[in-house]
Amino acid sequence: MATPKWTPNTLDPSNSPYLDLMAEEQMKQVRNFHQTFPMYEKTPLVQLPKMAERLGVADIRIKDESYRFGLNAFKVLGGAYAIGHYIADHLNKPIEEVTYDFLTSDEFKNNFEATTFYTATDGNHGRGVAWAANQLGQRSVVRMPWGSTQYRADAIARENAEVTIEDMNYDDAVRLAYEQSQNDPNGVMVQDTAWEGYEDIPSWIMQGYGTIADEVMEDLDQPPTHIFAQAGVGSFAGSLIGAFAMKYGEDRPKMIVVEADQAECLYLSAKNKQVTNVDGEMKTIMAGLACGEPNSVSWEILRTFTDVFMVVDDETAEAAMRLLGAPLKGDRQIISGESGVAGFAAFMAIMTDPALKDLKELLDLNEQSRVLFVSTEGDTDPERYDEIVRQGKSITL
Ligand SMILES: Cc1ncc(COP(=O)(O)O)c(C=O)c1O
Repeated sequence: MATPKWTPNTLDPSNSPYLDLMAEEQMKQVRNFHQTFPMYEKTPLVQLPKMAERLGVADIRIKDESYRFGLNAFKVLGGAYAIGHYIADHLNKPIEEVTYDFLTSDEFKNNFEATTFYTATDGNHGRGVAWAANQLGQRSVVRMPWGSTQYRADAIARENAEVTIEDMNYDDAVRLAYEQSQNDPNGVMVQDTAWEGYEDIPSWIMQGYGTIADEVMEDLDQPPTHIFAQAGVGSFAGSLIGAFAMKYGEDRPKMIVVEADQAECLYLSAKNKQVTNVDGEMKTIMAGLACGEPNSVSWEILRTFTDVFMVVDDETAEAAMRLLGAPLKGDRQIISGESGVAGFAAFMAIMTDPALKDLKELLDLNEQSRVLFVSTEGDTDPERYDEIVRQGKSITL
């Protein structure tokens, strides 16, 4: 297990118009949209007092997104809201009127031209898009990068999507899906990352994730002192960090962004003080984090509000999965998948690895700290989860 690398954020704040993407009133609108879905339920915010004692902080809370919409991951929140927003704009309707009942009504079917939603995914986002499209009687096409597991592809196919695993990395799979959407007169790209000229839908996806922050804020009596957010392209981290920055301003918690060491594009961008992509295979079990190009919208939020960027290796993630999967007596079990656990893995390393003493001090992580994590997925690949957690194997890709 390698000591995680880290860098403080010394970038100048951005003056991007996207900084207030996650404003409070926006979150309310997003949550209202999600609440119209019959399968909507608030996910648990689990307190782990024994773990907090063991690791030396006052409070640990983990938002368990494995309970989200029966899909075992948070991603559907973004895909569903973005599709809802796209439809609202297309039909010239206020988003408030675009409810689940409307989207599944005859009135909708008769007025909305059949659409195919395209996307690329490591698994979770594509499943969310395919699920939402399927619920609304629309088609979806999903492209997956090399290394994607068949189990995750099959779960997407069960949502009536056309799904393929391609011989290319995630960022190239995004380009492929985009090109195909452009060549389809009824095609719309629903990607969870932004680039210059493609910003609306990814911004709505980030806002869609805002339901997580909104639910957390409702459940907490006092704000956390620290938030650890895992990142692939950074949409999720930008959403969570952006929402807490908007709500608490200067009094916001300390924010730590955590990536997989094979896909350290945000860490490198912070270190190099300019956006730096990672190319190549990006072999990591943290499939959801295997993205080498930052979301251009989210990057503006992250460079402004993040305190420290970190990277963890696969073994650190595996150790953290085991720690949450076999809880201390009295604590609740959290089934957290390879990507879902990364934020907690970085924190676990800081609190237990003497080589990270300086970082622990810099972040003021101590017995007073109240630390928030989001376990963004459960065992989205149950066989691999079993190997890692119950059979104690270390996976080499
Ligand atoms: C479980 C899980 N956690 C975190 C992330 C990271 O999200 P983002 O790519 O928005 O940084 C992903 C992305 O697919 C994911 O699947």
